[in-house]
Amino acid sequence: MVSNQASSAETVPVNKARKTAKQKAEAITAFEMTLLLQAIKFRYNYDFSNYSLGSLTRQINNCLNKYKLKNISELIPKILHEKGFFTLFLREMSVTVTEMFRDPEVFNTLRDTVLSDLKKHAHINIWHAGCATGEEVYSLAIMLKEEGLLSRCQIYATDFNNHSIDIAEQGIYKAEKIKGFTENYQLANGKASFADYYQAKHSYAKMSDSLKEHITFAHHDLIKDSCFAKMHLIVCRNVLIYFNKNLQNHVLSLFQQSLHQGGYLLLGDKESLEFTDQKDNFLVVAKAQRIYQRNS
Ligand SMILES: C[S@@+](CC[C@H](N)C(=O)[O-])C[C@H]1O[C@@H](n2cnc3c(N)ncnc32)[C@H](O)[C@@H]1O
Repeated sequence: MVSNQASSAETVPVNKARKTAKQKAEAITAFEMTLLLQAIKFRYNYDFSNYSLGSLTRQINNCLNKYKLKNISELIPKILHEKGFFTLFLREMSVTVTEMFRDPEVFNTLRDTVLSDLKKHAHINIWHAGCATGEEVYSLAIMLKEEGLLSRCQIYATDFNNHSIDIAEQGIYKAEKIKGFTENYQLANGKASFADYYQAKHSYAKMSDSLKEHITFAHHDLIKDSCFAKMHLIVCRNVLIYFNKNLQNHVLSLFQQSLHQGGYLLLGDKESLEFTDQKDNFLVVAKAQRIYQRNS
C-alpha cells in the first residue's frame, strides 16, 4: 500500500522501477536476438551475428510487423519448424534497394579511371558481390559494351538472397522504373540510347540477351564462402554498411585475396577502406567515388 507521507520521495523509486523495467525488456530482447541468431545458424548456416545491430534490429522489427508477431520468441519456432518460412525471412533480412546507374558520377569516374586501364587485358574478370536484383550489374555491362570491352569480360554477379538472384537473372524490370534508369544513364554520359538495351513488353522491360551472355549469376555468401576466381575488378556497393567492423575486415580481406595485383575495388558512397585492416593494401584511385586499387 502506498502511504501519503512518501508522496514527494516516491518519484525516485517509481522512475527507478520504470527504468529497470525498460532495461529488463531490453535485456530480454537482446537474449531473444541471441537465440534467434543461433537458431538461424544452427538450422540454415546463415550467420548474422556480425551484422550491425541497428540494421539487424530494423529488419527483424519489419519482419515482426509483417507477420504480426509480438516478439522475437514467436519468430524462432517459425524459423525452426515452418517449411518455407526462412526463405521469406531472408527476403526481409536482405535490403535490396538498388537502381540502374545508381550514383551516375561513380559510373563516369569508373569509365575514365578503371575501364580505360582494363583495356590492356585480353580477358577481364569482374565480380559484383551483393548484386541484389541485378540493376547495377546490367549498368556496368552496358558501360563495358560501350567501351568495347564486354566481349572480353566474364562478370560474376552474386548475392546470398536466391530470390534476388532469380530476379537479376531474369533481368525484367517494371516499365515505370525505366524513366529514372534512363535519366541516370544519361547523367553517367551513356553513349547511346538506354532503349537500345531492353525490349519493352507490356508494363515490363526485359534487358537484352547480349548483356546477359557475359554475366554468370550465382549464390555466394560473403560470410562463409571463399574466393572463386582472380578478379580485375570487384564491385561491392552498399553491402558493407550492414556489417560490423569485424565482418567488414573479413570481407575486405576476401576481396584483397580475390583481386589480381593492380585490380580495382569499388565500394558504396558510405563505405571506405579507411580505418580497416586493408587500408595499406590499396591505393586510393578516386576518394569520393570510393574506387581503390590493390597495390603490390
Ligand atoms: C542494398 S543492396 C546493394 C545492391 C547494389 N550493390 C547497389 O548498391 O545498388 C545489399 C545487398 O547485399 C546482399 N547481402 C547482404 N548480406 C550478404 C552476404 N552475407 N553475402 C552476400 N550478399 C549479401 C543483400 O542480399 C542485398 O541484395
